[in-house]
Amino acid sequence: MKSKSASEPTVQEVEKAKHLYCRIICGDSREVLPTITEKAALIVTSPPYADARRKHYDSIPPSEYPMWFAGPDGFSEVFWNALEPEGSFVLNIKDKVVDGIRNHFVWKTIQLLEEKGWKTIDDYLWRKTNPMPGYWHNRLRDGWEYCFHLARVVRPKMYQEQVKVPIGGWTEARLANLKGKDLKRQNSANKSGFGRDLTYWVNKDKVLPPNVIVADEPKEEEGENVVELPIGIGRQFQHPAVFPVGLPAWFIRLFTKTNEDGFSDGLVIDPFSGSGTTGIAALNLRRNSILIDNNRDYCEMAYKRIKAEANPNGWEVLREGF
Ligand SMILES: C[S@@+](CC[C@H](N)C(=O)[O-])C[C@H]1O[C@@H](n2cnc3c(N)ncnc32)[C@H](O)[C@@H]1O
Repeated sequence: MKSKSASEPTVQEVEKAKHLYCRIICGDSREVLPTITEKAALIVTSPPYADARRKHYDSIPPSEYPMWFAGPDGFSEVFWNALEPEGSFVLNIKDKVVDGIRNHFVWKTIQLLEEKGWKTIDDYLWRKTNPMPGYWHNRLRDGWEYCFHLARVVRPKMYQEQVKVPIGGWTEARLANLKGKDLKRQNSANKSGFGRDLTYWVNKDKVLPPNVIVADEPKEEEGENVVELPIGIGRQFQHPAVFPVGLPAWFIRLFTKTNEDGFSDGLVIDPFSGSGTTGIAALNLRRNSILIDNNRDYCEMAYKRIKAEANPNGWEVLREGF
């Protein structure tokens, strides 16, 4: 239905707005997820890292982490069942240094998830623009974290158009006057199977980003291969491990979509939601979301934060169990 004037929302928009929601549920996600009937298009989350934040929440030693996360009493099966068959699960996590050596508990966890049936579609990197300062004898500052893309099937739903980036200035000069060899596909001389066809790029103004997140402030350099975001400022929200809104937002754009009317066509779930960052990203992008955290104070914090930061339109922010 058409609006009466440009500024007035349509009847359909008002109706839809009533249904756009962010539900915050306080509880253990292993118990809460099985009670949720709607399946998620995307689970995007950052769980407690091994042996981290002891003072704040569960601290799991690296040796026990794979079983804690992906074992029979862990999260693998409930996440699997909470996801649409062609949905995606994005896991932001980082290996830990133990006694001067990088302990790859994350790799072992991913391996166990694969044994449970998960397909690791790709490993994205989130590069931190302001990593923690410090000095170590045998390594440098930690400047990135994993974001594993896992799925139940090899070809999960993916909306690449929504994250494409400008092709960059090189095309104007390079593609202006194609002639000779440039007019057909050139295969690599060493028979590697690689090749290129420059004619494909004529009149194209956008390309896929590499497996890189270009979120809040896209960088101009081409070929950047890591996520380029400022780290969330934990102290500001009194949560020790906040990720930036741009991180879940980027994956929400890549793996979920809206209907033609611009409203949610795919539920986003964050089962370790902390200060509610994923809820802010989801509401900003008009996707429905369910956030779960087993700490009441963090749920309270998330509720207040989302109401304050992401709710100019009065979307529903629902609270349960706290
Ligand atoms: C790394 S933090 C997530 C931070 C979040 N991404 C943000 O931006 O604020 C992990 C969260 O998982 C929560 N948590 C730990 N075990 C849980 C469980 N079994 N069920 C639900 N939440 C849990 C912790 O309370 C903590 O807030």
